[in-house]
Amino acid sequence: MATVIKFKVNGRWVEVEVPCHWTLLRLLREKLGLTGTKEGCGIGECGACTVLLDGMPVNSCLILAPKVEGREVQTVEGLGSRGDLHPLQKSFIDHGAVQCGFCTPGMLMSSRALIDKNPNPTREEIKDAISGHLCRCTGYNQIIEAVEAIEE
Ligand code: FES
Ligand code: FES
Repeated sequence: MATVIKFKVNGRWVEVEVPCHWTLLRLLREKLGLTGTKEGCGIGECGACTVLLDGMPVNSCLILAPKVEGREVQTVEGLGSRGDLHPLQKSFIDHGAVQCGFCTPGMLMSSRALIDKNPNPTREEIKDAISGHLCRCTGYNQIIEAVEAIEE
């Protein structure tokens, strides 16, 4: 069974038909071509699929697509563009925090949610904000430093 949903993604309203059992992650990647959001575990454990739903970080692999009807989703594609990077993206580059393509989009989105609410987070608050992201290359320090150094 499929349904038609309308929601805002990266500031633009879209209306799409989607099978009711699809996840938000699958909708973003397979219908809307927003492949910046990655699938790691697919079961809510790694944080790779993190997007913002009404400003809050969520694991898009755990959200059924019809649940976003009328709501606002932000993905890494809406953060900045090649010629106009978000300050977080610049800081990640400057601090060597861009490690692998699977983790970085989700890390950026959780960091974005944090600094939107709290522009000067402490180290502990940054650690807490990215605690749902599993990085197997153990490169958390550079990410924490990149978020600490952010200048909006
Ligand atoms: S893919 Fe969603 S939490 Fe791992
Ligand atoms: S950044 Fe992806 S495993 Fe470390």
